[in-house]
Amino acid sequence: MTRLEGKTALVTGSGTGIGRAVAERFAREGARVIIADRDAAAASETADAIGPSARAAVMDISDEASVEAAFGLLGAEGWAPDVVVANAGVQLFGQDAAAADLDLDVWKRTIDINLTGTFLTVKHAVRSMLVSGGGSIILTGSPTGINGEGRDFTAYSASKAGIHGLGRTVAAAYADRGIRVNTVVPAYTETSLVTTITSDPEARAAIIGRIPMGRAGAPGDVEGIMVFLASDDAAFATGALFAVDGGMTI
Ligand SMILES: NC(=O)c1ccc[n+]([C@@H]2O[C@H](COP(=O)([O-])OP(=O)(O)OC[C@H]3O[C@@H](n4cnc5c(N)ncnc54)[C@H](O)[C@@H]3O)[C@@H](O)[C@H]2O)c1
Repeated sequence: MTRLEGKTALVTGSGTGIGRAVAERFAREGARVIIADRDAAAASETADAIGPSARAAVMDISDEASVEAAFGLLGAEGWAPDVVVANAGVQLFGQDAAAADLDLDVWKRTIDINLTGTFLTVKHAVRSMLVSGGGSIILTGSPTGINGEGRDFTAYSASKAGIHGLGRTVAAAYADRGIRVNTVVPAYTETSLVTTITSDPEARAAIIGRIPMGRAGAPGDVEGIMVFLASDDAAFATGALFAVDGGMTI
């Protein structure tokens, strides 16, 4: 379990959920990990649980000054990341809605965090990697960016489809500079993001019914593909989309 020995990895949104599972696995694979989250308490708690190979970084991905400052500090302190997982995101259940009913403010808040925030993370990751000599960037996409997954998921689905396109374009732009960019698509995964679905037996059964493997995802389900993409085993993989979703996007 040392596939990431010698690497430093930053994972956004790793105070909890999928990001936390990935950061914990990266640490078990030998990486130093930066727990980047806007929730300072969650970031510190995760970093403390991992131990000395982890540090917390408070970062609001939707605020460029915050993202730039975090990357600047890490670079100055010898923690410039070789791997960046742009994973943080929100889904505004009860507010996101079918297009005709969707408030512009809800649309903007979703896009600001999910799409603009991913762009800002990628922008400053690329700048850092251009200096350090390359690296691997992994984006967290979604089945909603591929399939029509819910009539109320308008802003969320658009933000995720945008992330899929962003990943391909940045991958092509920096392929000759040693920077790889790939997107991982998890299934419906029972984290705090989706408690609205998890706590509604009918909605939960409906979404699991769209997963051919017949179960919800767990945060650990995407750890393996993330380790692969972060590692040198994936040296020739860029611009691709990897669904590890129990067949949800078949
Ligand atoms: N849970 C699912 O069903 C599912 C499915 C496919 C994709 N995803 C995606 O996976 C990613 C992780 O989701 P999760 O289910 O682990 O969610 P989660 O709510 O458990 O964790 C999200 C984390 O992101 C952080 N965060 C939110 N906004 C932030 C910001 N502006 N700046 C920095 N950190 C911020 C939160 O504090 C939290 O720690 C998201 O991009 C989500 O869209 C989730």
